Amino acid sequence: MTSKSVSNTCYWKIIFLVIFVICVSIFHYRTGTEHKYHGLHEIYRRLYYVPIILSAFWFGLKGGLSCAVVVSFFYLPHVIYQWGGDFFTDDLPRTLEIVLYHIIGAVTGFLSQQQMNATRDLKMTIRERDESYDKLKKQAETLVEAEEQLRRADRLSALGQLSAGIAHEVRNPLASIKGTAEIISDKFKPGDKEYEFVEILIKEVNRLDAVVVGFLDFARPKPPERKASNSNDIILSVLKLTKHQIARSRIKLKTHLEDQLPSAYVDPEQMKQVFLNLIINAVQAMPDGGILEVKTYKEDSQIVCLFSDTGSGISKDNQKNMFTPFYTSKNRGMGLGLAIVHRILEGHKGEITFTTKQNRGTCFSIRLPIVDI
Ligand SMILES: Nc1ncnc2c1ncn2[C@@H]1O[C@H](COP(=O)(O)OP(=O)(O)O)[C@@H](O)[C@H]1O
Ligand SMILES: [Mg+2]
Repeated sequence: MTSKSVSNTCYWKIIFLVIFVICVSIFHYRTGTEHKYHGLHEIYRRLYYVPIILSAFWFGLKGGLSCAVVVSFFYLPHVIYQWGGDFFTDDLPRTLEIVLYHIIGAVTGFLSQQQMNATRDLKMTIRERDESYDKLKKQAETLVEAEEQLRRADRLSALGQLSAGIAHEVRNPLASIKGTAEIISDKFKPGDKEYEFVEILIKEVNRLDAVVVGFLDFARPKPPERKASNSNDIILSVLKLTKHQIARSRIKLKTHLEDQLPSAYVDPEQMKQVFLNLIINAVQAMPDGGILEVKTYKEDSQIVCLFSDTGSGISKDNQKNMFTPFYTSKNRGMGLGLAIVHRILEGHKGEITFTTKQNRGTCFSIRLPIVDI
């Protein structure tokens, strides 16, 4: 219940009590003092206990006593004037009723106050228990996630070592196939059917080679050679490299690279790969054009690099898997780009986070250390 609705309920309870006391008093005063009405007076006198008990029940000790005072205030003139008697000697039990009002108000109020305190303590304990349960649940989830990551890393390192060997072996025959295909292609003229076939062969071999190179980069990461490097310069060199691809996709490039940006303590070659993967992903997410925004600035003891696009965004399902090696949502994707980015940043004690909105775009944020940590 909100505090507003609680105070509203209190308000109505008080109105109810006031009306109750006033009604009983009216009946009480309007009833004559003749002997035949004596019974009615007895009833009205006791009816005053109802609001006192209710008030004590609702508002505790203060409520019980306050209502007893109010009731006495209404009842006292009746004792003094209507019965016209001596305050103490005429009908002592009638006068003593006022004392009883207070005793009942105080006792009921005290007991209900105890009850209310116990209920409040219980609610607090329940809330605390719920909070601890939530905390525990979150910690358990984090633990499960960490365990999954650990298992994945373990699987990857075993799988990586094995397949890196195979991949290495694959590259040699690939180079021979490519060389042979090039020799064969020299025998045909552009326009010949055979020439086109051989061109397709060379293209596919190149693609396969790129997959193997990508995989080797991922499976056998080189330890970073970290040195003070200017992130703006690395980004600019990658943008130069991707200039044509960006223009071809009708993408507008906006850069906000902070002047006097402190150097980041990173391996420039590996960071080139990180930025290249992010920019290529952004370009691929905007096949019909859009805006690619690149921003750098310093925050605390880190360099922040933002890459935001106005592309397809990433669905909830994809978000869970996008850093997993070989996960791709593209027909001809390799699914290694972000896994490599993640691994490189891990080696740099950097961070990658992202925000995304479906059909609106995605923003990747990279944080790099300024000093050696
Ligand atoms: N900027 C982006 N916009 C939309 N989706 C993205 C973006 N970057 C990455 N993704 C999603 O993450 C997946 C994994 O990316 P990545 O590891 O680079 O592999 P690939 O590009 O070969 O698919 C992509 O297939 C895509 O679904
Ligand atoms: Mg990619």
